[in-house]
Formats: sequence, C-alpha cells, structure tokens
Amino acid sequence: MRYTTKQQQAFYDTSKKYLSYTDLHTLTPKDVPLLEDLVRFHEYRYYVLDEPLVSDYEYDLLYKLLEAIEKKYPDASSPNSPTKRVGSDLAGDFASVKHLIPMLSLDNSYNADDLIKFDTQVKKLTERNNIIYTVEPKFDGGSIAIIYENNQLIRTATRGNGEEGEEITAQSRTIKSLPLEADFLSKGIYRAELRGEAVISKERFNAINTYRAEEGLTLLANSRNSATGGLRTKDPAETSRRQLDAFIFQLGFAEDENGNDMLPSIKSHHDAIDFLGNIGFKVSKGEKKLCYGIEEVIEQCNHWATIRDDYPYEIDGMVIKVDNFDLQDICGYTSHHPRWAIAFKFQAKQATTKLLDIEYQIGKIGSLTPVAKVAPVSLAGVTISSISLHNEDFIKSKDLRIGDQVLIERAGDVIPYIVKSLPELRTGDEQAVEYPTHCPSCHTLLVREEDEAAWRCTNLDCKAQILQRLIFHVSKDAMDIDGFGEKYIIRFYELGWIKTMADIYRLDYNKIAGLEGFGEKSAEKIRSAVEKAKSNPIHRLLHSLSIHHLGQRASKLIAEKISHVLDLTNWSIEEYISIKDIGPVVAENTSRWFAIEKNIDMLQEMEAAGVNLHQTELDKPKELITDGVFSGKTILFTGTLTQMGRKEAQNKAEDAGAKNISAVSKKLDILVVGENAGSKLDKARKIGTIQILTEVEFLELLD
Ligand code: IVH
Repeated sequence: MRYTTKQQQAFYDTSKKYLSYTDLHTLTPKDVPLLEDLVRFHEYRYYVLDEPLVSDYEYDLLYKLLEAIEKKYPDASSPNSPTKRVGSDLAGDFASVKHLIPMLSLDNSYNADDLIKFDTQVKKLTERNNIIYTVEPKFDGGSIAIIYENNQLIRTATRGNGEEGEEITAQSRTIKSLPLEADFLSKGIYRAELRGEAVISKERFNAINTYRAEEGLTLLANSRNSATGGLRTKDPAETSRRQLDAFIFQLGFAEDENGNDMLPSIKSHHDAIDFLGNIGFKVSKGEKKLCYGIEEVIEQCNHWATIRDDYPYEIDGMVIKVDNFDLQDICGYTSHHPRWAIAFKFQAKQATTKLLDIEYQIGKIGSLTPVAKVAPVSLAGVTISSISLHNEDFIKSKDLRIGDQVLIERAGDVIPYIVKSLPELRTGDEQAVEYPTHCPSCHTLLVREEDEAAWRCTNLDCKAQILQRLIFHVSKDAMDIDGFGEKYIIRFYELGWIKTMADIYRLDYNKIAGLEGFGEKSAEKIRSAVEKAKSNPIHRLLHSLSIHHLGQRASKLIAEKISHVLDLTNWSIEEYISIKDIGPVVAENTSRWFAIEKNIDMLQEMEAAGVNLHQTELDKPKELITDGVFSGKTILFTGTLTQMGRKEAQNKAEDAGAKNISAVSKKLDILVVGENAGSKLDKARKIGTIQILTEVEFLELLD
C-alpha cells in the first residue's frame, strides 16, 4: 500500500478543492508540488491499482491545471513531475522490461474548438495549409507493446511508466487476434515494435459478468478493468478465459537485420496500418478514415459519438493523427505526448443524483445484494433509479451514506454503477448505512464465509430464496418455460399452488383458467409451455436446481456423463472431479445437494409429473450429435440477429450438430446473416462455396 487511508482521503478532498476553482490567478508556486502529488496519486490509483477515484475528465482537468501552473512557475516544477513522464502501472509483480522507444500518452480534446486549435498548431509546426489526418477509434483497454523478431512474437509488455513496462509475453500469446508469427520480412523488417490495445468485446464482457453473477462472484466494473485485469494476471489461462482482443494502432519501430531504420520505407500511418492488417494483425479498417482537413475530422468525431454504442468494443473517444510520417517527424513530441496526434474524448456517461435509500434483496442461494434507490436520472438515454451495490465492502469502500449526492456512470453498455459519493456536498443530514445482520425476508442471522464477498441467509426454507429459485427455474437460462415469469410464480406461490419446483409440473389448469386476469386461452398457453419444458435435456434441469456454483457449463459437463439425473445420488466427490474442468467446489456442492432426501423426493415427484430425467441426445457431447440438420458443418453468425441473441443462436446451431467458428474462410460451410451484415458477407460471397442463410431460413431449417 503506497498511500495510507488518511493520505488518500486528504488527496481526494484536495482534488475536489482544486477542481472547484480553476482560476490560475489564485494559485501560487506552492501549489505546484501539491498538484504534482495529486496527479501522481490519481495516476497510481488508475494505472497501478486499476481503481480510479475520480473520473477521467476530472483527472484531465487536474493534469491540465498542473501543466498550466508549471508553465507559469517553471522553477517550482520538479524533474519528476507527472507532466514530464507518463503514468506508472508497475505493480512489481512481473519482470520489468525496457521499451525500444518510450510509450507516450495522448493529449486530450473535448470539442471542435480544441480540435481547431490542434490543427492550427500542426499547420504552424509543419508550415502547411492542408493536413491529412487519420481518425480512428480510441479503444478503452490496456496498452501493450509487442516486439517481433525474424517474424516471431518474442516479447509483449504493458505500458508501465512509459520507459519500462511489465513483461506479459505468456499472457499475450493467449490473445487469439495477435499472430505469433507475421511476415515482416516481406518488407525487409527484421525487428519491429508494435503498439496496440488489449480489449474485451462488449459481448464477452457481458458474458463474463453473467457467469460471475451465476457463480456468486463480484462483478467486473467495466470492460477496461476486465481487459487490464486479464493481462496482468499471473495465470495466462485466466487471460485466455477472458478472450481478449488486441487492436494494433501503431508501428512504433522497425529495423532491418543490420539495425537500419526501416520506417522511411513506409510513408504514412495509413500505409503502416494497412501493411500490419495485411500481415495478419487486427487493426481498424472500416473504422479508420482519412480526413482531408479538420472540418472532416470534426464531422467524423461527432458521427462516432452517435454510433459508439453500436460498436462491439468499448471506445472512449477517437484518435486523430497526422497521417504523413515525415510531417509527424516535423511535429515531434513533448515528454508526455506526440504533437502530431490528439485524442477526442466522448462525453462521459456520467451524472450525479441523490442516494435515496438502500434496499436489500435475497438471491436464489441466499446471497444478500444491496440495491441503491436513487432519484431517477437520465444517463445516455436511459432512466436510472436502481443500481446494484454488490456487497457490504463496496458500500464501505465508497463511504456511501443515505442522502448523499453520488456520481453514477453506465459501465459497459448497460450496467449503471456508483463511481463515488460527493462528500463535499453533504449537509449533515446524511445517514450512515446500517448493513443488515438478519435476512430481510425470514430474519435468520446472516453469515459470511471467509472467501466470499456476500453475506448469506442459510435458511433453505427462506421464502425469498424459494421464490428466487422458482423464478430462476422457469427462466430462459434454466428450464425456459415460455411466458412463465416472476409474476406467475409469485401469484401461484401466494395461492399455495406452487411450493416446490415439482408443483410447476402438476398445476391445475382449470383452476388457473378461472383466476381473475386469466382465462382458457392463457391457461392453455401456460400448459403447453410447461409440457414442452418437461422434455428438456437434463443439463437444463441440473442448472435449474440452483445448486451453488453449478453453472450452465458444469451442468452440461455432468449431463454428458450420466444416463439419469438420479445417478448422481451415488456419485462420489472423486467422480465429479474426474471430469475435466469440474473443480472441488462444484463437486462438494452438487454432492451435498444430492445427499439431501427432500431434494431427491422433489426430483422423483418431477419425474412422476412427466419431467424428463434421462440423458437426451442434446446432453451428449456435441461431437456425438450426428443426426442434427447441421451435423458435420461449420457455421458463423454475422450482423444483428433480431429473433434471438448471438449466444442463443450459436447454442441452437451446436444442438443441431454444427461447430461455431469465428472467421470466414474456405473452411466455413454456412454463414447466417442478420441485419447490417458487413465484410464477412462480402468475403463469403467471394469464396462462393459457402451456403448463405438469413436468420429466418436458419430457424426454418431447425424446425
Ligand atoms: S496512438 C504516442 N491510437 O490511448 C501515443 N492510442 O490515452 C500513440 N489508445 O496509451 C497512441 N486507442 O493505449 C493510439 N487508436 C489509438 C488508440 C490509442 C487507444 C490508447 C493508448 C494510449 C492511450 C492514450
């Protein structure tokens, strides 16, 4: 810990003070070292800990204030000022390696005026009237530098302090979009250093969080942290699980075997990126635009601000670069950033509102989740009134009090979260949060296991838990009983018609038809959905039982190995663990669940009511599905699907025997195209042998 809590609080309060008066005249030389320390502190929180205390925008303001005051009092500035070197992310856990050339940062702009100023400066430096710029997305992930020698990837490092970074070669090798071999020699380049950003797609980020929620783990706050966290784990297997992508945005260094600089053989940034794209790197292609003059740049930036949400990766702005390398050289560098490039930062999706209250919800395995009720506020087009606070530690770490003004942000694309409270706006009427000691539903004393973040109600008969388990049982991810949602579960439970999962399969539909708000038609709809669910594969049934830590994937792995669900009553822990990818925690919990007589009775009652407990074709390992419509075929989905999610479509295809692959090549058999399909469709047409299906045609074939 580099800073004590007290120091951190002091830094935080001082930051607020500086942020509230940016009038340079009130500052004296004494403010210079203070501001230096402040910026250093925020860089430490951001780069080293991945836990910023202020928004990027506020950090930028502090940084700019420091720059301005140093300019006014240069003698007061220390040689180690943050303006004279870039932020540090060295955590000391990895081997430290020197970059071939320093990895600098970018200057920031926020509006058209800033961009015009930048253009004016570039024109002055280059003595040109017309500058051609490239404009490309500014990826929000973790910066990396990758060295290739003799066409082989030999070293990857994080940005570190700009001069030295942390070696993460093993981790980076798991990034599939990063070629381990690439033909640099085709251009006479023996050694090259590339710069890029490791990122995580929005889809992948959401999938990880769904999984983490299922496993009772704390959710990842945003995709940037997930990417940097994925890079800086000691376990490359964890990096691999995150499925990071690496976008290359700069060829920093290139030389031939004799050490001669090879960059002069490439004329522009545009050419360099096209070359890298051609030898197999993931680069901005359609997203990158050559703009003739700053007006076009501004237009492009504004356009991207409106479409950023539709882009599959989180981006926090655009990067504008002078395209021509000779002109870049003329512009040169400050110690912090190149003078030939600037970032255009999008408006943060942040707002402040009042924390009105905290409600507590009990989940299906008894975990208590605090939920903030805030005064409704519109954030990037969505009205927010409830925000998950994850657990007690989260509330403590943010020092939240009821009545506080809080800064909220929409992380990822959908999940809003509380960045921090604004203590300087407290009136004295705010109330400390009293975290419950007992279950809000059944009043059982809550417990917290050593390695878990949540307090839990351990009473299996707790009404809130029972309801949550029933709601989960019928949900899409579990038994997928169409139209049978939370409302029906609660209503039938209150009527005493559903007490256990088995009761769902022996409802009296005549009674339902007679209920107020129902009728023959809706009763029939429920009946047919329930009947359909009875023949579900058993991996769905296993998942639907809400066994702690038994997620979708583990349920599938177990279902592959059994012929009947009740076989598990005889399974030992060792039998579970002998399955690849099943660990002791899942083994323990599942084994314990199947040792409880009440649970076995319930499964038997389900079977008696017609629920399938036998292994089905869909439970068998996928490669054994030989009689599906797509057996032996490879398939790829592209564009926006309207009838189902991408994951759901891929599952359906797998269930019909297909293998999902991720690229269009001669190996691809079927391409399913949704709306706005782009380059993949063009490529498939060119290859000519690929069967192209619309989403509707795909579903028809499945039927
Ligand atoms: S060019 C000399 N291009 O933004 C600096 N950077 O805030 C050249 N970033 O550290 C950087 N997307 O990690 C460049 N298309 C892009 C980028 C990009 C994301 C990151 C990069 C850099 C940070 C600066």
